[in-house]
Amino acid sequence: MGEGRENPLENLAELTIPLLLPTVRGQPARPQKMENAQTVVNQDLEYICHKLEKEFAALPGKNILITGGGGFLGYYLIQSLLRWNRTAGGQGVQVTVYDNYVRGLPQWLSSLSGNPNLKLVKHDITGPLPEDIDDFHYIIHAASIASPMYYRKYPIETMDANVNGLRTLLEYCCRQKESDRPVEGFLFYSTSEIYGDPTPENIPTPETYRGNVSCTGPRACYDESKRYGETLCVNFARQHDLPIHIARPFNNYGPGLKITDRRVIPDFVRDILDGRDIVMHSDGSPTRTFCYIADAIVGYFKILIRGHRGEAYNIGVESPEISIADFAGKLVATAGELFGYQGKVVKKASSDADYLVDNPNRRCPLIGKAREELGYDPSISLEEGIRRSLIWYRDNREAEEA
Ligand SMILES: NC(=O)c1ccc[n+]([C@@H]2O[C@H](COP(=O)([O-])OP(=O)(O)OC[C@H]3O[C@@H](n4cnc5c(N)ncnc54)[C@H](O)[C@@H]3O)[C@@H](O)[C@H]2O)c1
Repeated sequence: MGEGRENPLENLAELTIPLLLPTVRGQPARPQKMENAQTVVNQDLEYICHKLEKEFAALPGKNILITGGGGFLGYYLIQSLLRWNRTAGGQGVQVTVYDNYVRGLPQWLSSLSGNPNLKLVKHDITGPLPEDIDDFHYIIHAASIASPMYYRKYPIETMDANVNGLRTLLEYCCRQKESDRPVEGFLFYSTSEIYGDPTPENIPTPETYRGNVSCTGPRACYDESKRYGETLCVNFARQHDLPIHIARPFNNYGPGLKITDRRVIPDFVRDILDGRDIVMHSDGSPTRTFCYIADAIVGYFKILIRGHRGEAYNIGVESPEISIADFAGKLVATAGELFGYQGKVVKKASSDADYLVDNPNRRCPLIGKAREELGYDPSISLEEGIRRSLIWYRDNREAEEA
């Protein structure tokens, strides 16, 4: 896109955008007027709460700890619980967030701080737990740097959060059990990266695949600490009979993933919103399946509340598996429809020599286990997810560089 061209995004507020509500598979979608980020978020929260009616019904009066709640996944994990509190009536869920804000204190989280059902605690999970720690019924351990650019910058901190921080929380679960205040559910966020670069016959990838991972490469701080984290979870679950579960997310995207995160989708969107061509730092051939965040959040809560002890679940979508180049093309096309964007995709090597080292060529999950055991049923299409994301980013184009 040439310099000095008028940025057509400014006109978005005046547009009426036909958008399909995310619906349960098989039901007709209702055309909606979609005007801004808040509308997107409200509809997503409604969708999440609707799909989790049974699971959330188990939560009145419960105390939930979310570590790393200031991050991308925290955005909807926290807001969906608070939303459910508002609509369910009666006794709500009490949510506590521990976060050291190494990636910044997001404005959306500080703006929720007056909510009586939310307690924000600045805490680094690699240290001892606070002495006045509450009795938690559920724990979601999401504290870990997840963006490759940042975990390569802070590799030891990343390992510590996934190993030492996790261990501290698992030991808390043991103590709570001994003192007759047992934790009822624990979710550890692992990653699809534990599979490394799967061999072709292991794609799509089932939970039973053992992986093809470097233990010393630039991504190893992340992949290997998640692998050891899973081993810790499985053995604490078995040895102490604890309700510990593991999620393996496959490429989530959407609202909450801040534009400065340095993962590939926000990088592309930043180019679009700044009115320039999309810069792709690879040849565009690696393929992924991209799971819209609202569907993924439903999966995570289902694992937390219904998952089998000591077991891991892939959470993502099985199709479409598309190349990064095709994904960028879809972003360009949708931004063209929404905002009149006229840029194109250009290739340029990254200045970071490790950018592509150990980057998997293909990533695509099998999700039959979560479907069958948990009733996980993602239904938001890629086109709709991209559309919703772009509208959200249009109103969230500024974020701290952290
Ligand atoms: N988003 C995805 O697609 C995806 C994919 C695979 C795995 N995961 C995993 O899910 C979890 C959450 O991912 P995300 O995308 O929200 O990450 P994120 O980087 O957006 O957020 C992580 C949060 O953890 C906090 N944090 C980091 N180290 C901490 C520490 N030592 N103590 C306390 N807080 C700390 C950060 O401040 C941040 O708020 C991570 O464990 C990540 O590895 C996410």
